[in-house]
Amino acid sequence: MNRAPAHLSARSHQTVDQPISYFMQQAVENPGLISLTAGLVDYESLPADEVRTALDDILGCPAAARAALQYGTTQGYGPLREKLLARTVALDDVTAADVSLTADDLVITTGSQQLLYLLGELLLDPGDLVITEAPSYFVYQGTLNSLGARTLAVPMDEHGMDTDALEELLARLDRTGEIDRLRMIYVCDYFQNPSGRTLSLPRRQHLVELARRYSRKHRLFILEDAAYRELRYDGVDLPTIKSFDEDNAHVILAMTFSKPCAPGLKTGYGFLPRDLLAPLLRLKGNHDFGSNNLTQHLLDRLLATGAYDRHVAALCDVYRAKRNALLDALQEEFPAATGAHWTHPEGGLYVWLAFQPGTDAGPQSRLMQTALREGVLYVPGQFCYLEGSGVAIPPNEARLSFGVAAPDQLREGVRRLARACAVTGAGTVCAT
Ligand SMILES: Cc1ncc(COP(=O)(O)O)c(C=O)c1O
Repeated sequence: MNRAPAHLSARSHQTVDQPISYFMQQAVENPGLISLTAGLVDYESLPADEVRTALDDILGCPAAARAALQYGTTQGYGPLREKLLARTVALDDVTAADVSLTADDLVITTGSQQLLYLLGELLLDPGDLVITEAPSYFVYQGTLNSLGARTLAVPMDEHGMDTDALEELLARLDRTGEIDRLRMIYVCDYFQNPSGRTLSLPRRQHLVELARRYSRKHRLFILEDAAYRELRYDGVDLPTIKSFDEDNAHVILAMTFSKPCAPGLKTGYGFLPRDLLAPLLRLKGNHDFGSNNLTQHLLDRLLATGAYDRHVAALCDVYRAKRNALLDALQEEFPAATGAHWTHPEGGLYVWLAFQPGTDAGPQSRLMQTALREGVLYVPGQFCYLEGSGVAIPPNEARLSFGVAAPDQLREGVRRLARACAVTGAGTVCAT
């Protein structure tokens, strides 16, 4: 057998394992571990009955079955795109005409991750700049690294990305001429992964205004990743950043069925400025010339029958109870004297916890090793920052997910975390 080494591309060498693989491995190797890391969703509420009924309907009708089992188009199933457009503009309380959108401005993708990747291929050459929030969604960070893009980060507060700090950064890039390499600003604006924070209304408008102002030699895009929008448990919905982009010029809105419906369907969708659509579809043609067609027909049916809306409403009840269990447990186990504090997300799947200042919560830290021994796992916040992106990396933060664990497990997980803090002196005054 010829064992000469394989030649791997430069892009392959720039592509490292996603940190989440480490957590998956820990969970497999440590049965009994309560994982607060999961990017997975709640098991019990996955819509098995709704999907079976919709599939029965499709497969029980020969014409519908054949249409769904044939290849679809690269852009995606037209009736589904129509429904998604109608749904999104209704949520935003605008008309499609108000925001210059038609169903032809949508693309259905293999998860929103495929759209994020395709946009990178479409807009970024090695060395180009992207601005993200700090902290930010670490999978996308991996995508940007793989594509050879450079990332600059902007700090967040409880209202999401600090757009005044962004404005200063843009002014600085303008002075240095680097603005010419800036292509995109990426924001996860609803219940952000990882912090659970939501971008405020004035900042949504400010972002669009900045994208307009700094579009000189080329257009500056905002990539609005609204993966968690529909998972809201309290408060009122906010309009998308996209809804302020009346000319459909600057904002790309990425959405997914993975969180509000089922990640196994791996279907996402995007709204794009019209001049990006054809080149993006050419790239998607290279990837798969169309996402899973049966799944698109299935989702179309779930939307048409109202099963999707009923499911989202029921799911929000499930997650509200889980979020409350996690927040109540934090309140109990980490009293003010511990110096710990955390976000109170109105939706999504994540709470961002800052341990007492000075605590090292990193992957090799004593706290992490002790937490593992106690039987609980969290995502070190450090994974959600990038070295050299312009924002200092705080060592004492962690992402906690309430997606998978049941309320009792969430409470027990936080108790274990508090014990790990007590053992390592990471600030808790709470005795076991
Ligand atoms: C913020 C965010 N964007 C995008 C995705 C990608 O999800 P999918 O490709 O399943 O739609 C995820 C998944 O966890 C996410 O958290």
